Amino acid sequence: MGDVVADGEKAKETAELPLEIIIHILSFLHPSDRKEASMVCHSWYNASLDLSFQKNVTFCFPASPSSLQMVSGLNRRSRCSLVISQLDGFSMSRSLLLEVGLCLGSKLDGLALPGSSITEASLLALLPCLTSLRKLDLRGLDSLFMSGAFLSREEHRQQVRTALVHLEELDLSDLRYLSDLTFSRLTSCTPRLRRLSLAGNHIAFEFDPYQGCPVGMVEHSSALLSLRNLRRLLTEQKTTLRALDLSRTSITPESLRTIAQVQGLVLEELRLHGCKELTDYSIEVLIKHQPSLQRLDISSCTELTSRTVEAVARGLKSLTHISLSNNWRITEKGLADLTSLSSLRRLDLSNCLHVSGAEMVKGLKESAESRARLETLSLKSCTYIGDLVVSSLGQLLGSTLQELDLTSCVNVTDLSVLAISTYLLKLVILRLGWCKEIKDKGLLGTVEKCVLNKKLEEKGPTFTRTFGNMGFFKPPNMEDQPKPVTQLELQQLKRSAGASLLALSRLQELDLTACSKLTDNSITQVVNHQDLHRLSLACLPCITDDSLVSVAWRCKSLTSLSLSHCPGISDRGVSQAAPYLRRLQHLNLSCCNNITDRSLLALAKHCKRLRTLDISRCKKTSVTTIDLLQSQLPFLENIQCKFIGGADPTLIM
Ligand SMILES: *[C@@H]1O[C@H](CO)[C@@H](O)[C@H](O)[C@H]1NC(C)=O
Ligand SMILES: *[C@@H]1O[C@H](CO)[C@@H](O)[C@H](O)[C@H]1NC(C)=O
Ligand SMILES: *[C@@H]1O[C@H](CO)[C@@H](O)[C@H](O)[C@H]1NC(C)=O
Ligand SMILES: *[C@@H]1O[C@H](CO)[C@@H](O)[C@H](O)[C@H]1NC(C)=O
Ligand SMILES: *[C@@H]1O[C@H](CO)[C@@H](O)[C@H](O)[C@H]1NC(C)=O
Repeated sequence: MGDVVADGEKAKETAELPLEIIIHILSFLHPSDRKEASMVCHSWYNASLDLSFQKNVTFCFPASPSSLQMVSGLNRRSRCSLVISQLDGFSMSRSLLLEVGLCLGSKLDGLALPGSSITEASLLALLPCLTSLRKLDLRGLDSLFMSGAFLSREEHRQQVRTALVHLEELDLSDLRYLSDLTFSRLTSCTPRLRRLSLAGNHIAFEFDPYQGCPVGMVEHSSALLSLRNLRRLLTEQKTTLRALDLSRTSITPESLRTIAQVQGLVLEELRLHGCKELTDYSIEVLIKHQPSLQRLDISSCTELTSRTVEAVARGLKSLTHISLSNNWRITEKGLADLTSLSSLRRLDLSNCLHVSGAEMVKGLKESAESRARLETLSLKSCTYIGDLVVSSLGQLLGSTLQELDLTSCVNVTDLSVLAISTYLLKLVILRLGWCKEIKDKGLLGTVEKCVLNKKLEEKGPTFTRTFGNMGFFKPPNMEDQPKPVTQLELQQLKRSAGASLLALSRLQELDLTACSKLTDNSITQVVNHQDLHRLSLACLPCITDDSLVSVAWRCKSLTSLSLSHCPGISDRGVSQAAPYLRRLQHLNLSCCNNITDRSLLALAKHCKRLRTLDISRCKKTSVTTIDLLQSQLPFLENIQCKFIGGADPTLIM
């Protein structure tokens, strides 16, 4: 879709079209393409403001004098969300919040203030204006809660309550000073919460260390948030509350039971990431009392074993998302039952080092019609996963899988890549980083024919479009019942040589980091996806400028590109690629030894959208050019330039 704006002339012709038609045309675009298109001319911009496109628009910006103007500019939108960072207690921040209240008061859907240190007074000037706020994120705003006086006056509470009576989502994570008092005051203003996050807080689950007695005995603590108070809130708001996040707290098995058993509470989502004290038994009790859970995150709960997996598979019949990541005690046991859950869409088993996948294949195979229609699967660092399992999963999940993470699955080879390109045609995200055995022929989909010569290459991208039809690409027969692949079939697949990576025409993200055997041979031929947004070719010692130029030319939608630790990338490549990378926002060239100021000048000239750039350890670049870059690139937020030109400019500037 890189060409919407490419041709300004065409745009002028369509300027005469009625607004409705332009809106209709824009409706077919990916949001990022639509954003590009909105910059073509006034009428396209007007069309892009149509309500149908605006449902979830979130604007993120740091507090600065220019953001004042921007906020008043948002006035024309029907609804939007704001993420404003770096607010402080000074007058500019105060005026900004006032402006937000004035211009967007009744239109604001969500508000988050990360990395800020605002005062109670500034926030109280704003909150009462936000009459249709659905989502409020006060994560980490210690400045607000430190004094303990937030919302201590009834008159303020009344104003805030009047505005926030319909608030659905409240994020109070990572607040060092949240206490029973402030928590009760704030939640008394938000009586209909649907989602509450208290992740990373010091909640007194068993004993109140300040009082030295069980929490149940203390009425209202002004120093800590207690289980008792949390339980009170859950009881009061049980009719609306569906999602709770208690990740990174020291919740005990006993406390989880207390929460799970709140009368009338029906949770659909529960996050318990990193709650290291939880046991299998506590999860069994949870499941017994909360059988409606659809999303469960019990990643990094390192005590849990396969008993939990079995309980989940038995008890949560409407489960759609589960993360079991980093639970190294989990083995194959129970995974067959889990993949037999027909509701399951997302499964994260990353860093479950003992999982080999055989049971998942079994579950998917045996439950046939009622098997999980997985859309997202992460098997990152499951080193026992091998080609046979990947091929079988490919075959069984071909009609649904959109995201597959095989990062660091070191036993995965070209055969897996072949199977992925053959079966998983709906993939949008594919991560193969650190699968060091993958070679060109895997990506090219051919064992013998990997040496497609450079002459064809020079004819440009037209040849690659038909590459998939050159006679040896045989698409799978979708009529067949999906079934696991046998060793014999795997060998046949290898001999017949199938599809190349080009077959994955919907790919938006591809990670080939440290697949160190890859060369220009495959990259220049099969990384050719018009919707590709994110690509990592980091740590590929054999690729040269040819790969970079080819990728830039073919993947014009790229917003993020990593080439760190690629010694073969030089100024020639960057200079030739930059004119095609107009949408690039994130570029990583760290440890590319052959990059000099010439590359930076090319970026300054062409890649006007750059937001982050990493040129650490590019020893041939200079501080002067970095200054120039900063003055010429309007969106540049972060430039990592440690150890350039032999010195660390962060010490100089
Ligand atoms: C865009 O919308 C504004 C306000 O609705 C209107 O004044 C202007 O004429 C429109 N421009 C075009 C080119 O349609
Ligand atoms: C985005 O909008 C859709 C439709 O209005 C809504 O269902 C969805 O929950 C919204 N997503 C977010 C993140 O707000
Ligand atoms: C690869 O798989 C085999 C078994 O199929 C296993 O013995 C070996 O340890 C695995 N390799 C790694 C690095 O885990
Ligand atoms: C890049 O630099 C290395 C030394 O750091 C050199 O050996 C290599 O030939 C250079 N490559 C190119 C393409 O200039
Ligand atoms: C760039 O890549 C290196 C190594 O792959 C990584 O350590 C670094 O964090 C990346 N830089 C950014 C800004 O993401």
